[in-house]
Amino acid sequence: MNPSLQKLLASLADGKYHSGESLGQLLGVSRAAVWKQLQQLQELGVDIVSHKGRGYCVAGGLDLLHEKEIKKLYKQYSISQSANGPREIMLALNVDSTSQVLLRRSAEGESIHGLVCLAEKQTAGRGRRGRAWQSPIACNLYFSIGWRIENGVNAIEGLSLAAGVAINTALQEMGLKNIQLKWPNDLLYQGKKLGGILLEINGDAAGECDLVLGLGINVDMPAEASSDIDQAWTDLTRLSADLGVEIPVRNRLVAQLLVQLFNLLENYESKGFSHYKNAWQELNAHIHQPVVLNMGNKQVRGVVEGVSDGGALRLNVNGKIEEFIGGEISLRPAQ
Ligand code: BTN
Repeated sequence: MNPSLQKLLASLADGKYHSGESLGQLLGVSRAAVWKQLQQLQELGVDIVSHKGRGYCVAGGLDLLHEKEIKKLYKQYSISQSANGPREIMLALNVDSTSQVLLRRSAEGESIHGLVCLAEKQTAGRGRRGRAWQSPIACNLYFSIGWRIENGVNAIEGLSLAAGVAINTALQEMGLKNIQLKWPNDLLYQGKKLGGILLEINGDAAGECDLVLGLGINVDMPAEASSDIDQAWTDLTRLSADLGVEIPVRNRLVAQLLVQLFNLLENYESKGFSHYKNAWQELNAHIHQPVVLNMGNKQVRGVVEGVSDGGALRLNVNGKIEEFIGGEISLRPAQ
């Protein structure tokens, strides 16, 4: 992360006014240089208010991510877990995509096993099926984990579904309940999208390869950013308000999510999806509902019966159970 911009952002995070002079002293630069950096932050989407006599502030303050704090909280929350945890947590202010950062490193021959890439903002965040993932600055969570697979992707069949279970476990531990899963790996609250998981591979899918597990969770989505989202969405701020619980700070959210995700990754090859299947079914948002499964140009209509031992969607299509491994569910409109 650009240390000077980070320092500036950190001092504005308290929501108070800071004079150009005091910011200049803090950063060891001229007032003109401060102004330039403030402009850079504004270009990244930070809403900075300036007042002639008082200086600059971010109204309401910011809940920023900090590597050290995440590591400290990780240790605290992983005490009862056997997971080794992240090899390194890399926090960036602004990247194209946290998953792309890890995939690039993997393509360059670097080991990404156990690396976590986390960003305050993504300029080219991506979702499943070629969609963009809206990633405004300092309000949601965007991170990716690199993982080495030695024996081909068959060994991790169903992992993307199991990741949904692990994420729900972490959120539940923080009192954030009533989340459901939409096959294969969307997180929903009240039928609206709260987050999503994207698995990508670099290497030989039948042998040695690097897996990148990317997770995006809407924490406090600003209204301005939401106009670009092409589906019903929600965020943890709305969920916690409904539940009457205080929303945890983002550092804690990351730490507890990492505890569950590392526990999942470190044990998945031995446990497999069967260990998570029942938990997934209990969270299934569309169980026994009539749906349309879209697979490119093809559409299949059926009733959701659950998932198979490998995580395939089981649909009752005209009285016959069929299994599907790809596609996207939408609810079938009432006839
Ligand atoms: C989905 O479409 O539901 C999957 C969304 C995955 C978004 C996350 S944000 C962090 C990581 N980096 C990306 O570019 N995408 C994933």
